[in-house]
Amino acid sequence: MEIKKAIFISSNIDVDKCPQTDKPEYAFIGRSNVGKSSLINMLTGQKKLALTSSSPGKTTLINHFLVNDKWYLVDLPGYGYASRDKTQKGKIQKIINDYILKREQMLNLFLLIDSRLEPQPIDIKFMEFLGENEVPFAIVFTKADKLGSEKTKNNIKSYLDTIKEQWEEIPQYFITSSEKKIGKEEILKYISSINNKVITNK
Ligand code: GTP
Ligand code: MG
Repeated sequence: MEIKKAIFISSNIDVDKCPQTDKPEYAFIGRSNVGKSSLINMLTGQKKLALTSSSPGKTTLINHFLVNDKWYLVDLPGYGYASRDKTQKGKIQKIINDYILKREQMLNLFLLIDSRLEPQPIDIKFMEFLGENEVPFAIVFTKADKLGSEKTKNNIKSYLDTIKEQWEEIPQYFITSSEKKIGKEEILKYISSINNKVITNK
């Protein structure tokens, strides 16, 4: 699939104020700084569509981007940013949970995980939360350019082994680098396969 057009539509704090539409959407979640906004830019081929930063906590709202006039990519705030105060943390958690649990047209959530790290309890717990609530998701291992490919592979294997302890089946997963544009085709193909099931051109 080719992305011909991707435009910013809105930023919302309240899921009920998000675009009132039945177009399918695909959202990105994961720890702050894992590379959610960068991945949206890589997928759309627009460097500055979603705002990114080298310091965590950049995205704080639900951001909708309309793609090819037919479906949305949604950039969410990250979780687990230690420097946020308690009130701010609570607010961000509410935005994330409300969106994930209420937004019916969100057909797949991409859960981003930093490929440089050992399995992180916060990510494993988040996956459990998704399972308990039957949220459809796929895993995206990010920043695959940062370590050598051997080290990246070992980290991913160790993540998958941890996941296997709790899940009967390993979720669909992708390995990406927004820096080196790795994984773009695979993710777009996956989105396209879901779109094809729900979008009719009539
Ligand atoms: P929050 O909005 O704070 O939750 O962060 P985020 O998950 O949206 O991360 P963002 O896309 O802003 O990226 C965080 C930092 O990681 C930026 O400095 C990016 O340039 C860098 N980054 C993101 N993806 C990659 C990647 O694939 N490779 C490398 N080397 N750096 C990356
Ligand atoms: Mg962001």
